[in-house]
Amino acid sequence: MASDPSPQAQVPGPVGIFPATGMPDADWWHTLWPDPDAVVRALGVGPGMRVLDLACGDGHFTAALARCAGSGYVTGLDLDPALLARAKARCADPSCHFRLGDAMAIRDVCPGPFDVVFMANTFHGVPDKARLASAVAAVLAPGGRFVIINWQARAREETVVLGAPRGPQTALRLSPEATLEAISAAGFARERLVTLPPYHYGLIVHRPAAPDAKEAPAALR
Ligand SMILES: C[S@@+](CC[C@H](N)C(=O)[O-])C[C@H]1O[C@@H](n2cnc3c(N)ncnc32)[C@H](O)[C@@H]1O
Repeated sequence: MASDPSPQAQVPGPVGIFPATGMPDADWWHTLWPDPDAVVRALGVGPGMRVLDLACGDGHFTAALARCAGSGYVTGLDLDPALLARAKARCADPSCHFRLGDAMAIRDVCPGPFDVVFMANTFHGVPDKARLASAVAAVLAPGGRFVIINWQARAREETVVLGAPRGPQTALRLSPEATLEAISAAGFARERLVTLPPYHYGLIVHRPAAPDAKEAPAALR
């Protein structure tokens, strides 16, 4: 007779670096994203929020998140220690914290709760997107948001920066609808879609507050 596995055994562990998620070179990355503060603001991050920058890389968006969250705080999580060291050097703000860890095991590393989990330019490479969505849902406050920045689902040859095609291979790119479908089993509902020219979009979804939950956090009202 098969033994009853413990709850621990039913939760798969970390999976390591996701495929096709290497940190881009700064020259074309900064050309593509010249104003990360404007991006973060457009995606609804504002003063007082508790934000997790999931797969923060070298901190290009983490620093902007910290500036926009003001009196709140930002935690950057990444599995690459060298990138994390660069992110730390760039975000001296005391409201910014960094954790080394796997995005599939967020709760072990930074349990939250967070008002926003922000994931930029990484979701396309996650092999088990439904499981990632469950991991995100587990650290969000009721009514909290999952914000995903993705490359548009266009042919890679069309997304040219500094004279060369950039970004993940065409087959890995997801439409907003496909992204939503991949995470919907974790209970996320679509809130807003933001166009981020020239080649990206931001999908904002939220985890509905339980009917008997107290009011949403102040920052989200
Ligand atoms: C393309 S970079 C994007 C970095 C940053 N979000 C940005 O947009 O500038 C993808 C990042 O995902 C990180 N990453 C990949 N797999 C991961 C995992 N399983 N857990 C945590 N971070 C991971 C990589 O180390 C890398 O820093």
